[in-house]
Amino acid sequence: MSQADEHEGTRRDFLYFATAGAGAVATGAAVWPLVNQMNPSADVQALASIRVDVADIEPGTQLTVKWRGKPVFIRRRTADEIEAARTVALADLPDGNARNANGQPEASADDANRALSEDGEWLVMMGVCTHLGCVPIGDGQGDFGGWFCPCHGSHYDTSGRIRKGPAPENLPVPVARFDTDTEIVLG
Ligand code: FES
Repeated sequence: MSQADEHEGTRRDFLYFATAGAGAVATGAAVWPLVNQMNPSADVQALASIRVDVADIEPGTQLTVKWRGKPVFIRRRTADEIEAARTVALADLPDGNARNANGQPEASADDANRALSEDGEWLVMMGVCTHLGCVPIGDGQGDFGGWFCPCHGSHYDTSGRIRKGPAPENLPVPVARFDTDTEIVLG
């Protein structure tokens, strides 16, 4: 059979199934949205990078935004939170790597290597537990005053570093930068 014949055959089969009855048509309609979602189309690409206005975030609070389908925590830390994060001995950290996509891959987990701003006020991280992917609870939760993942009990400190529980790694810091004084660009 030539290629042209094969095409013709496929087309005829398709027409047959598509007109075989209302059921078949309804199935086709239900399948399309799924197919579209799996396609890395224009709307997905548009989300590759987003701008976030952080002007209204008060110290001691955080904004959670959805980026590339996942939550991102943008926290404006208090002086106490920054101090707590910066006085921890590296030897006390289960994961000694900064996990910061903006820095060197081998950078240590010092808070200064994770914070977005030099003064440490801003911390941006993926809000996805490194154990099995739950979303940790913020606002001073857990034994270390940072984030707590209730799924299996992982405690993160005020720098988002794992301190206790089954999670193996610190919460990752995504590619991010300040574009203006009050706007962060993710991606
Ligand atoms: S998913 Fe967070 S502790 Fe298991």
